Amino acid sequence: MDDDIPLILVTGAGGQLASSIEDIADDYPGYQFLFLDQETLDITDKQELQNLFDSKPIQYCINTAAYTAVDRAESEYDEALAVNGTAVAYLAELCRKYNTKLIHISTDFVFDGLIDRPYTETDTLNPVNAYGKTKLEGEALAMANDPSCYIIRTSWLYGKNGNNFIQTMIRLGQSRDEVRVVHDQFGNPTYAADLAAALLDLMMHPEFDYSGGIYHYSNEGVISWYDFASEIFETAGLKAKLVAISSAEYPMPAKRPVNTALDKSKIKTKFGLSIPDWKDSLHHYLRETGQKKRSIF
Ligand SMILES: NC(=O)c1ccc[n+]([C@@H]2O[C@H](COP(=O)([O-])OP(=O)(O)OC[C@H]3O[C@@H](n4cnc5c(N)ncnc54)[C@H](OP(=O)(O)O)[C@@H]3O)[C@@H](O)[C@H]2O)c1
Repeated sequence: MDDDIPLILVTGAGGQLASSIEDIADDYPGYQFLFLDQETLDITDKQELQNLFDSKPIQYCINTAAYTAVDRAESEYDEALAVNGTAVAYLAELCRKYNTKLIHISTDFVFDGLIDRPYTETDTLNPVNAYGKTKLEGEALAMANDPSCYIIRTSWLYGKNGNNFIQTMIRLGQSRDEVRVVHDQFGNPTYAADLAAALLDLMMHPEFDYSGGIYHYSNEGVISWYDFASEIFETAGLKAKLVAISSAEYPMPAKRPVNTALDKSKIKTKFGLSIPDWKDSLHHYLRETGQKKRSIF
């Protein structure tokens, strides 16, 4: 490791977002990266974190590690809180102490989804499920322990290494005659590769080191899960019948907010980011993963 080259710690290696950052790390030769998975760095282990920060000069930390099983969190609240809340406080405390710029990833599920427009960073926080509550606690603890950190909220994330909605649709679309998807929950899908590139581009911005705060990032375009599934079916060439149903017809352990579209004006204006449209990014993902149906032309 070269002490003159800034070091970026990425927690939660192996997850969707961390894998996407790893995929493009070589495009940023001015930085060294340290990708650590749960086995090599359990962020709930305060001593392990302390040892790491003691042993290496870490200039940036992107915390992608999280307990992301939304439904299971209803019955495992303490386990979810340990990763999404308490551990974030440890990390933020160390980042402040060692002058490390923390970029903590949060979620659209901090909102209750009841307003009928995209959510801005200053809208009222009121999570409707256990996962959202633990992530909100994480945001508060990050800010309290390291007021100059960044919190980036994202939504409906999918990436190459994930067991995400797209992969579920492809699996069901290939194995069933009929697939039922809710049409009354709205939001923005986010391709992890787009978010990964945005995070690193953000970090290159001249103002990045001198700033902080809460920002929203997701792909452009507000859609329902049914709209998303329709485009997946069409683009992947799935033959099963797709049926639109209401949330009431598809009860889940964790309640879902109705609308969590995110307003991205702040990140676009401050950092000059241009954000891809959800459909273009979905096509890109399906092409990259070899799941896009072949064109006959
Ligand atoms: N996925 C979404 O739809 C979505 C939507 C909005 C926001 N987000 C947020 O975006 C971020 C990245 O999400 P993602 O989809 O990339 O998540 P992911 O694929 O589930 O990856 C999270 C990673 O964190 C690891 N992890 C869990 N507990 C840990 C611990 N104690 N110490 C270290 N690592 C630990 C997991 O390891 P194991 O696999 O070994 O458990 C996993 O590799 C998270 O903050 C998430 O809350 C995600």
